[in-house]
Amino acid sequence: MARVLLGVTGGIAAYKACELCRLLVKDGHDVVPLVTPGAERFVTAETFRALARRPPGDDVYLHLTRADLLVVAPCTANTLAKLAHGLADNVLAEAALAHRGSVLVAPAMNPRMWAHPATRANAATLRERGVVLVGPDEGETAEGELGVGRMAEPDEIFDAARNLLMGTGPLLGKRVLVSAGGTREPLDAVRFVGNRSSGRMGVALAAGAQRRGAVVTLLAANLAVPAPAGVELVETPTAADLEREALGRGVEADVIVMAAAVADYRPAEALAAKRPKDKAAWTLELEPTTDVLSALGEHRHDGQILVGFAAETGATGLERAREKLARKGADLFVLNDVSRTDIGFDAYENEVTLLAAGTERTVAKAPKEEIAAVILDEVEALLLDG
Ligand code: CTP
Repeated sequence: MARVLLGVTGGIAAYKACELCRLLVKDGHDVVPLVTPGAERFVTAETFRALARRPPGDDVYLHLTRADLLVVAPCTANTLAKLAHGLADNVLAEAALAHRGSVLVAPAMNPRMWAHPATRANAATLRERGVVLVGPDEGETAEGELGVGRMAEPDEIFDAARNLLMGTGPLLGKRVLVSAGGTREPLDAVRFVGNRSSGRMGVALAAGAQRRGAVVTLLAANLAVPAPAGVELVETPTAADLEREALGRGVEADVIVMAAAVADYRPAEALAAKRPKDKAAWTLELEPTTDVLSALGEHRHDGQILVGFAAETGATGLERAREKLARKGADLFVLNDVSRTDIGFDAYENEVTLLAAGTERTVAKAPKEEIAAVILDEVEALLLDG
């Protein structure tokens, strides 16, 4: 049983923290709720005291300095700033300064507040300090606005809390490098050769690895979906950018997942200005790019796990994926059929076959977050095998 300080701050999502409190208590932890005055506008401290089964007259100050985990959910922009800057003007902020264990934060705020450079900087400061951020998610806020700002679901926060408390998961503290999205190769100042990858699968993998306690860097190639809050984000719009960053950062990584759709060919020459329209045909010459995964396979260090994706169409896909697994020097290949519109490219769901040396298994159609969890289970098994 661990002691968990549960900070609840003032946002409409505070009611969802009741469920988080219940899950933590059910899991056998000693939960000390710290409900800020701002949160009391939405929920009562009494509700949390009851859910946490705290005795009447319990003095929270006695528990603050020896807790295993501090969870702040929901965490408002204001509290995020306080945590980043070390302010201590209420019992939660004081507890955060005195606390020496792990910290998990689930931000929840208006999408414009989350996008503000001040909030971005505060989130980055916390991340650098080792604080794990879960969410915020994309969706509709209480005010009816669409965007990124909604608190992650209680079961997701609970899973992240559990991983931090267990402190033993094979991915805990491991450096994981994930590439996601699709590269765009410029033709001129405004046009490019690209592909339909949204980055959803890679983002789900990055978020999942982070929840398992990994230190995640996401190489983002033109993502159509928001990047997870807690990861280090490196923009890699072209195959050349991705090659440079993957080979440079790959040296340090324990796990590399190449989920990005990297262009195999790029225009041999990109015009600096926009090409004006005329009557003549425009003939392009495309030159091959470096196969980043193969290059990573050649330079890999002992114990490093390398995962590739095979975007195939039709019945010969499996054979081709087997061949790629061997040729590119990867430990695991994830095969998906990009000829179907219900899965794979730019879809919410996926159905994949996982190929490793001598083993193959099909994972039934499921949301990409669930597919990501199965892939990460496999990565963890490979890490344990050493
Ligand atoms: N990949 C890469 N660098 C490239 C192209 C692809 O690192 N220039 C990686 C992808 O990220 C993916 C894997 O290689 O993990 C497989 O990509 P895919 O396009 O399916 O295979 P290719 O090797 O390009 O083979 P082909 O196009 O002939 O199917």
